[in-house]
Amino acid sequence: MEIKIINGPNLNMLGKRESNHYGTFTLADLEKELTSRYGKQADLDFFQSNSESDLIHYIHENGPHADGIVINAGAFTHTSIALRDALLAAGTPFVEVHISNVFAREEFRHVSYLSDKAAGVILGLGKMSYFFAVEYFLESSGQITKEGI
Ligand code: DQA
Repeated sequence: MEIKIINGPNLNMLGKRESNHYGTFTLADLEKELTSRYGKQADLDFFQSNSESDLIHYIHENGPHADGIVINAGAFTHTSIALRDALLAAGTPFVEVHISNVFAREEFRHVSYLSDKAAGVILGLGKMSYFFAVEYFLESSGQITKEGI
């Protein structure tokens, strides 16, 4: 099983940014922990970019042959129809994740261009948002179809 774990803008700053919302772990810590928890059960690939264009290119090239995508699109969640379209073009089930509880924050974060097309949305659970998303794909492997995306 091949799972792509995609992080959008400013998530490279984890550990240095707003620890009240994002904790103190770094992106490298998170990726290491995901690999140590799930690396034997799944082929995990990580990608982070601050560029909308690079994220879209990555999804075009890597999304279609993956079994699942876990995406924290950062602020692009709330703005990017282009990212939504790229995920739809890839046709691969994705889970939208957020470290913070966006509904407990500013109103502009309550809007997502991804949620209605996601297999699920997991938010507010810190690193565990990612863990549960990967577990979803592992648990449902063989049962997820690409229909209806
Ligand atoms: C975030 C929430 C977004 O609103 C914000 O722009 C981020 C991170 C989260 O993981 O909680 O960059 O996606």
